[in-house]
Amino acid sequence: MQPRPRVAVLASGRGSNLAALLAARERGGLAADFVLVGSDKADAPALRLAEAAGVPTVALAPKAYPDRRSFDRDLLQRVTDSGAQWLVLAGYMRVLDGEALRPWVGRAINIHPSLLPKYRGLHTHRRVLEAGDREHGASVHFVTAELDGGPVIAQARLRTEAGDSEEALAARLLPLEHRLLPAVLTLLLGGRLRYRDGQVWLDGNALPAPLLLGPDGLHAAA
Ligand code: GRF
Repeated sequence: MQPRPRVAVLASGRGSNLAALLAARERGGLAADFVLVGSDKADAPALRLAEAAGVPTVALAPKAYPDRRSFDRDLLQRVTDSGAQWLVLAGYMRVLDGEALRPWVGRAINIHPSLLPKYRGLHTHRRVLEAGDREHGASVHFVTAELDGGPVIAQARLRTEAGDSEEALAARLLPLEHRLLPAVLTLLLGGRLRYRDGQVWLDGNALPAPLLLGPDGLHAAA
């Protein structure tokens, strides 16, 4: 049997996207070995989920380091030492230092709850409502040194509705995130996606626009 690609995940909180990845693997829909879940928060529920699934975990405390770069270097070194070939940021709430990240560029993806390039950073649901946007969504992108700024691989789109609250929007978006992230990771591990020249390449062609999540999975934007 072919060895399965080795994947590490970084998460700071609840870990529902991590749970979606583990569930996809359980269903046989994602051929991956999860070799490490790392966090900047020792009490992150994501770590408990990983432990329950038998995935090794590491939690490092940023306060124990003199600066961001040395923390990120150590955390990413643990990721390297785990044997991971790929890295998924699934609700990891710290900006990664560009220098520490360099060896991972092209091998790391992040899920962000907005239709990037709109609304990088925090409070995306609130900002969508404040702007009166008719549409919201989630994006999976290659991680670069720029916060939520790497090229977007795929998006899930969602209509906003009159009277929507932040919580309602988040609750409708989350199940889409849970389909989007495993779908993108499957493409990546299957060798169909590449990061080159600051762009996403799919099956050898530069992607003109992010893929879209439809009822049957990812498809090219119309
Ligand atoms: C998700 O909305 C994700 O897009 C964002 O942080 C949230 C993490 O949720 N980056 P969870 O920890 O995966 O449940």
